[in-house]
Amino acid sequence: MTSSNKINAELLLQDIREDPERSGVWNFYNPKNLYLTDSQSKIYLELMGDIRYSSRFHDKTETLIKTNSKKIIDHFNEDSLLIIDLGPGYPSKTFPIIDDLKKQKKEIEYWGVDINQHFANIAKRTMLKRGISHSFSKIISFEVTADALKKSGTNCQKLIIIGLTFMNFEPGYILNILKSCASGEKDVCLTAVECADNAKPLILMKPYKTKEVERFLFIPLSFLGVKESEVSYNVEFHAQRIEMFFIFNKVPPLLKEKGIKEGDKIITAISYRYTTKQYQDLLRSRFTKNEFFKLENTVLGISRK
Ligand SMILES: C[S@@+](CC[C@H](N)C(=O)[O-])C[C@H]1O[C@@H](n2cnc3c(N)ncnc32)[C@H](O)[C@@H]1O
Repeated sequence: MTSSNKINAELLLQDIREDPERSGVWNFYNPKNLYLTDSQSKIYLELMGDIRYSSRFHDKTETLIKTNSKKIIDHFNEDSLLIIDLGPGYPSKTFPIIDDLKKQKKEIEYWGVDINQHFANIAKRTMLKRGISHSFSKIISFEVTADALKKSGTNCQKLIIIGLTFMNFEPGYILNILKSCASGEKDVCLTAVECADNAKPLILMKPYKTKEVERFLFIPLSFLGVKESEVSYNVEFHAQRIEMFFIFNKVPPLLKEKGIKEGDKIITAISYRYTTKQYQDLLRSRFTKNEFFKLENTVLGISRK
Protein backbone atom coordinates (compact mmCIF):
# COMPACT_ATOMS: atom_id res chain seq x y z
CA MET A 1 0.00 0.00 0.00
CA THR A 2 1.49 3.36 -0.95
CA SER A 3 0.28 6.92 -0.91
CA SER A 4 -0.36 6.58 -4.64
CA ASN A 5 -2.74 3.69 -4.01
CA LYS A 6 -6.29 4.45 -5.03
CA ILE A 7 -8.62 4.57 -2.07
CA ASN A 8 -11.88 2.80 -2.69
CA ALA A 9 -14.42 5.46 -1.70
CA GLU A 10 -17.34 3.02 -2.13
CA LEU A 11 -15.80 0.70 0.45
CA LEU A 12 -15.14 3.57 2.84
CA LEU A 13 -18.74 4.76 2.48
CA GLN A 14 -19.92 1.40 3.76
CA ASP A 15 -18.27 2.19 7.11
CA ILE A 16 -20.52 5.24 7.63
CA ARG A 17 -23.62 4.43 9.67
CA GLU A 18 -25.99 6.68 11.56
CA ASP A 19 -25.80 6.05 15.29
CA PRO A 20 -28.90 3.99 16.21
CA GLU A 21 -29.41 6.05 19.37
CA ARG A 22 -28.45 9.55 18.21
CA SER A 23 -29.94 11.08 15.13
CA GLY A 24 -27.53 13.29 13.17
CA VAL A 25 -24.50 11.43 14.57
CA TRP A 26 -22.63 9.28 12.05
CA ASN A 27 -20.19 6.56 13.06
CA PHE A 28 -17.18 6.33 10.78
CA TYR A 29 -14.56 5.12 13.22
CA ASN A 30 -13.13 1.94 11.78
CA PRO A 31 -9.50 2.30 13.03
CA LYS A 32 -8.00 0.87 9.88
CA ASN A 33 -9.26 3.87 7.84
CA LEU A 34 -6.70 5.99 9.65
CA TYR A 35 -3.84 3.92 8.27
CA LEU A 36 -4.75 3.16 4.67
CA THR A 37 -1.80 4.96 3.08
CA ASP A 38 1.90 5.46 3.72
CA SER A 39 1.38 9.15 4.30
CA GLN A 40 -1.16 8.37 7.06
CA SER A 41 1.34 6.07 8.77
CA LYS A 42 4.01 8.77 8.55
CA ILE A 43 1.71 11.38 10.09
CA TYR A 44 0.88 8.90 12.88
CA LEU A 45 4.58 8.35 13.56
CA GLU A 46 5.04 12.13 13.77
CA LEU A 47 2.22 12.21 16.31
CA MET A 48 3.90 9.48 18.32
CA GLY A 49 6.97 11.66 18.42
CA ASP A 50 4.77 14.46 19.75
CA ILE A 51 5.15 14.30 23.49
CA ARG A 52 1.69 15.82 24.08
CA TYR A 53 0.07 12.83 22.44
CA SER A 54 2.27 9.86 23.25
CA SER A 55 4.13 10.23 26.51
CA ARG A 56 1.11 10.00 28.78
CA PHE A 57 0.43 6.33 28.26
CA HIS A 58 2.75 4.79 25.65
CA ASP A 59 5.85 5.16 27.78
CA LYS A 60 4.03 3.61 30.72
CA THR A 61 2.87 0.60 28.68
CA GLU A 62 6.46 -0.04 27.66
CA THR A 63 7.61 0.25 31.26
CA LEU A 64 4.84 -2.10 32.43
CA ILE A 65 5.83 -4.70 29.85
CA LYS A 66 9.51 -4.32 30.71
CA THR A 67 8.92 -4.74 34.45
CA ASN A 68 6.62 -7.72 33.97
CA SER A 69 8.34 -9.40 31.06
CA LYS A 70 9.47 -12.34 33.22
CA LYS A 71 5.86 -12.94 34.35
CA ILE A 72 4.74 -12.88 30.73
CA ILE A 73 7.36 -15.32 29.49
CA ASP A 74 6.79 -17.67 32.43
CA HIS A 75 3.63 -18.72 30.57
CA PHE A 76 5.73 -20.21 27.79
CA ASN A 77 7.01 -23.65 28.66
CA GLU A 78 7.55 -25.03 25.18
CA ASP A 79 10.75 -24.61 23.13
CA SER A 80 9.10 -22.55 20.42
CA LEU A 81 6.40 -19.89 20.27
CA LEU A 82 4.67 -17.59 17.83
CA ILE A 83 4.32 -13.89 18.64
CA ILE A 84 1.46 -12.10 16.89
CA ASP A 85 1.83 -8.33 17.18
CA LEU A 86 -1.51 -6.75 16.21
CA GLY A 87 -0.94 -3.19 14.90
CA PRO A 88 2.65 -3.12 16.18
CA GLY A 89 3.64 0.40 15.07
CA TYR A 90 7.33 0.64 15.91
CA PRO A 91 7.32 -2.55 18.04
CA SER A 92 9.47 -1.30 20.92
CA LYS A 93 6.97 -2.52 23.53
CA THR A 94 7.65 -6.09 22.37
CA PHE A 95 11.47 -5.81 22.73
CA PRO A 96 11.75 -6.75 26.44
CA ILE A 97 9.72 -9.92 25.86
CA ILE A 98 11.78 -10.88 22.79
CA ASP A 99 15.05 -10.24 24.60
CA ASP A 100 14.05 -12.32 27.64
CA LEU A 101 12.77 -15.17 25.46
CA LYS A 102 16.02 -15.17 23.51
CA LYS A 103 18.00 -15.50 26.76
CA GLN A 104 15.99 -18.69 27.34
CA LYS A 105 17.01 -19.87 23.85
CA LYS A 106 13.40 -20.10 22.69
CA GLU A 107 12.71 -20.49 19.02
CA ILE A 108 10.56 -17.48 18.09
CA GLU A 109 8.40 -16.81 15.06
CA TYR A 110 7.14 -13.22 14.80
CA TRP A 111 4.16 -11.85 12.84
CA GLY A 112 3.71 -8.09 12.53
CA VAL A 113 0.01 -7.93 11.60
CA ASP A 114 -1.14 -4.64 10.13
CA ILE A 115 -3.41 -3.51 7.33
CA ASN A 116 -0.77 -0.85 6.67
CA GLN A 117 2.19 -2.20 4.73
CA HIS A 118 4.56 0.47 6.05
CA PHE A 119 3.91 -0.50 9.68
CA ALA A 120 3.93 -4.24 9.03
CA ASN A 121 7.30 -3.88 7.29
CA ILE A 122 8.80 -1.69 10.02
CA ALA A 123 7.89 -4.38 12.55
CA LYS A 124 9.34 -7.19 10.46
CA ARG A 125 12.59 -5.34 9.72
CA THR A 126 13.02 -4.31 13.34
CA MET A 127 12.57 -7.86 14.58
CA LEU A 128 14.96 -9.25 11.95
CA LYS A 129 17.56 -6.77 13.22
CA ARG A 130 16.85 -7.94 16.75
CA GLY A 131 17.81 -11.45 15.74
CA ILE A 132 14.42 -13.04 15.05
CA SER A 133 15.08 -14.67 11.70
CA HIS A 134 11.53 -16.02 11.38
CA SER A 135 9.93 -12.55 11.21
CA PHE A 136 7.06 -11.87 8.85
CA SER A 137 4.97 -8.87 7.89
CA LYS A 138 1.35 -9.92 7.54
CA ILE A 139 -0.53 -7.22 5.65
CA ILE A 140 -3.96 -8.43 6.69
CA SER A 141 -6.73 -7.19 8.97
CA PHE A 142 -7.08 -8.28 12.60
CA GLU A 143 -10.46 -9.67 11.56
CA VAL A 144 -8.87 -12.38 9.38
CA THR A 145 -5.83 -13.14 11.56
CA ALA A 146 -7.42 -16.15 13.27
CA ASP A 147 -8.13 -17.67 9.83
CA ALA A 148 -4.54 -16.98 8.73
CA LEU A 149 -3.34 -18.77 11.86
CA LYS A 150 -5.52 -21.78 11.10
CA LYS A 151 -4.27 -21.85 7.51
CA SER A 152 -0.64 -21.66 8.67
CA GLY A 153 -1.23 -24.94 10.50
CA THR A 154 0.81 -23.75 13.49
CA ASN A 155 0.23 -25.58 16.74
CA CYS A 156 2.79 -23.85 18.95
CA GLN A 157 1.99 -21.60 21.89
CA LYS A 158 1.02 -18.06 20.89
CA LEU A 159 1.50 -14.65 22.40
CA ILE A 160 -1.03 -12.14 21.01
CA ILE A 161 -0.13 -8.51 21.67
CA ILE A 162 -2.53 -5.65 20.99
CA GLY A 163 -1.57 -3.26 23.78
CA LEU A 164 -3.29 0.11 23.78
CA THR A 165 -4.90 -0.38 20.36
CA PHE A 166 -7.48 -2.32 22.44
CA MET A 167 -9.00 1.07 23.38
CA ASN A 168 -9.81 1.98 19.76
CA PHE A 169 -12.42 -0.75 19.26
CA GLU A 170 -15.79 -1.54 20.76
CA PRO A 171 -14.92 -3.95 23.57
CA GLY A 172 -17.06 -6.94 22.46
CA TYR A 173 -15.73 -6.67 18.92
CA ILE A 174 -12.04 -6.66 19.79
CA LEU A 175 -12.43 -9.29 22.53
CA ASN A 176 -13.96 -11.65 19.96
CA ILE A 177 -10.96 -11.10 17.68
CA LEU A 178 -8.47 -11.68 20.50
CA LYS A 179 -10.30 -14.76 21.71
CA SER A 180 -10.31 -16.30 18.24
CA CYS A 181 -6.56 -15.65 17.81
CA ALA A 182 -5.69 -16.94 21.29
CA SER A 183 -7.72 -20.09 20.85
CA GLY A 184 -5.22 -22.54 22.35
CA GLU A 185 -5.27 -23.56 26.02
CA LYS A 186 -1.80 -22.05 26.61
CA ASP A 187 -2.05 -18.97 24.39
CA VAL A 188 -1.55 -15.59 26.07
CA CYS A 189 -3.03 -12.18 25.22
CA LEU A 190 -1.55 -8.82 26.19
CA THR A 191 -3.87 -5.81 26.31
CA ALA A 192 -3.36 -2.38 27.82
CA VAL A 193 -5.52 0.62 28.61
CA GLU A 194 -5.36 4.06 30.08
CA CYS A 195 -7.97 3.90 32.84
CA ALA A 196 -10.39 6.66 33.69
CA ASP A 197 -10.49 6.00 37.45
CA ASN A 198 -9.87 9.47 38.81
CA ALA A 199 -9.12 11.43 35.70
CA LYS A 200 -11.53 14.11 34.55
CA PRO A 201 -12.82 13.77 30.96
CA LEU A 202 -11.31 17.18 30.15
CA ILE A 203 -7.84 15.90 31.04
CA LEU A 204 -8.38 12.64 29.15
CA MET A 205 -9.47 14.49 26.03
CA LYS A 206 -6.65 17.07 26.03
CA PRO A 207 -4.13 15.11 23.88
CA TYR A 208 -6.75 14.79 21.13
CA LYS A 209 -7.44 18.51 20.92
CA THR A 210 -4.46 19.52 18.83
CA LYS A 211 -4.22 20.70 15.24
CA GLU A 212 -1.94 17.72 14.45
CA VAL A 213 -4.46 15.13 15.69
CA GLU A 214 -7.25 16.96 13.84
CA ARG A 215 -5.22 16.78 10.60
CA PHE A 216 -4.67 13.04 11.06
CA LEU A 217 -8.31 12.27 11.88
CA PHE A 218 -9.60 14.32 8.96
CA ILE A 219 -7.81 12.21 6.30
CA PRO A 220 -10.54 9.50 5.92
CA LEU A 221 -13.02 12.32 5.18
CA SER A 222 -10.69 13.81 2.57
CA PHE A 223 -10.84 10.44 0.75
CA LEU A 224 -14.59 11.06 0.40
CA GLY A 225 -14.15 14.50 -1.14
CA VAL A 226 -14.74 16.53 2.04
CA LYS A 227 -12.78 19.79 2.22
CA GLU A 228 -11.25 21.05 5.46
CA SER A 229 -13.22 24.28 5.19
CA GLU A 230 -16.50 22.30 5.17
CA VAL A 231 -16.10 20.84 8.67
CA SER A 232 -15.10 21.84 12.19
CA TYR A 233 -13.33 19.44 14.58
CA ASN A 234 -14.28 18.68 18.17
CA VAL A 235 -13.81 16.08 20.90
CA GLU A 236 -16.36 14.85 23.46
CA PHE A 237 -16.59 12.21 26.15
CA HIS A 238 -19.64 10.02 25.58
CA ALA A 239 -20.66 6.52 26.69
CA GLN A 240 -17.31 5.59 28.25
CA ARG A 241 -15.28 6.77 25.32
CA ILE A 242 -13.54 9.77 23.84
CA GLU A 243 -15.19 10.59 20.52
CA MET A 244 -13.32 12.61 17.92
CA PHE A 245 -15.62 14.07 15.31
CA PHE A 246 -16.23 16.69 12.65
CA ILE A 247 -19.37 18.82 12.27
CA PHE A 248 -20.48 19.56 8.72
CA ASN A 249 -20.84 23.20 7.72
CA LYS A 250 -21.37 22.02 4.13
CA VAL A 251 -22.04 18.45 2.95
CA PRO A 252 -20.42 17.15 -0.28
CA PRO A 253 -22.74 15.28 -2.71
CA LEU A 254 -21.40 11.78 -1.93
CA LEU A 255 -22.33 12.18 1.72
CA LYS A 256 -25.63 13.96 1.04
CA GLU A 257 -26.67 10.77 -0.74
CA LYS A 258 -26.05 8.88 2.54
CA GLY A 259 -28.50 11.19 4.30
CA ILE A 260 -25.94 13.39 6.06
CA LYS A 261 -27.11 16.97 6.64
CA GLU A 262 -25.49 20.26 7.60
CA GLY A 263 -24.88 20.36 11.35
CA ASP A 264 -24.53 16.56 11.58
CA LYS A 265 -21.53 15.01 13.33
CA ILE A 266 -19.27 12.35 11.87
CA ILE A 267 -17.03 10.42 14.29
CA THR A 268 -13.72 9.35 12.74
CA ALA A 269 -12.05 7.90 15.86
CA ILE A 270 -12.93 6.65 19.31
CA SER A 271 -10.87 5.70 22.31
CA TYR A 272 -12.49 3.93 25.25
CA ARG A 273 -11.62 4.90 28.82
CA TYR A 274 -12.73 2.22 31.27
CA THR A 275 -12.34 2.23 35.01
CA THR A 276 -9.78 -0.36 36.14
CA LYS A 277 -12.65 -2.56 37.33
CA GLN A 278 -14.56 -2.30 34.06
CA TYR A 279 -11.42 -3.26 32.13
CA GLN A 280 -10.72 -6.20 34.43
CA ASP A 281 -14.34 -7.36 34.20
CA LEU A 282 -14.20 -7.19 30.39
CA LEU A 283 -11.14 -9.43 30.24
CA ARG A 284 -12.54 -11.76 32.90
CA SER A 285 -15.75 -12.14 30.88
CA ARG A 286 -13.72 -13.80 28.07
CA PHE A 287 -10.59 -15.26 29.67
CA THR A 288 -10.42 -17.35 32.84
CA LYS A 289 -6.82 -16.62 33.88
CA ASN A 290 -6.00 -12.92 34.15
CA GLU A 291 -3.29 -10.89 35.83
CA PHE A 292 -3.25 -7.08 35.90
CA PHE A 293 -0.41 -4.65 36.50
CA LYS A 294 -0.83 -0.93 37.00
CA LEU A 295 1.43 2.07 36.64
CA GLU A 296 -0.40 5.26 37.52
CA ASN A 297 -3.41 5.22 35.14
CA THR A 298 -2.07 2.64 32.70
CA VAL A 299 -3.05 -1.00 33.21
CA LEU A 300 -1.58 -4.04 31.48
CA GLY A 301 -3.56 -7.28 31.28
CA ILE A 302 -2.08 -10.74 30.76
CA SER A 303 -4.92 -13.10 29.84
CA ARG A 304 -5.28 -16.78 29.10
CA LYS A 305 -8.16 -19.03 28.16
C1 LIG B 1 -2.58 3.04 17.04
S1 LIG B 1 -1.68 2.32 15.78
C2 LIG B 1 -0.31 1.49 16.44
C3 LIG B 1 -0.18 1.51 17.87
C4 LIG B 1 0.97 0.76 18.42
N1 LIG B 1 0.51 -0.55 18.84
C5 LIG B 1 1.51 1.54 19.56
O1 LIG B 1 1.18 1.20 20.70
O2 LIG B 1 2.21 2.48 19.26
C6 LIG B 1 -2.77 1.01 15.37
C7 LIG B 1 -2.29 0.17 14.22
O3 LIG B 1 -3.25 -0.85 14.03
C8 LIG B 1 -3.54 -1.00 12.64
N2 LIG B 1 -4.93 -1.42 12.52
C9 LIG B 1 -6.02 -0.81 13.06
N3 LIG B 1 -7.13 -1.54 12.81
C10 LIG B 1 -6.72 -2.61 12.12
C11 LIG B 1 -7.39 -3.75 11.61
N4 LIG B 1 -8.70 -3.89 11.77
N5 LIG B 1 -6.65 -4.67 10.97
C12 LIG B 1 -5.32 -4.52 10.80
N6 LIG B 1 -4.63 -3.48 11.25
C13 LIG B 1 -5.31 -2.54 11.92
C14 LIG B 1 -3.28 0.34 12.02
O4 LIG B 1 -2.95 0.23 10.67
C15 LIG B 1 -2.16 0.89 12.90
O5 LIG B 1 -0.90 0.66 12.36
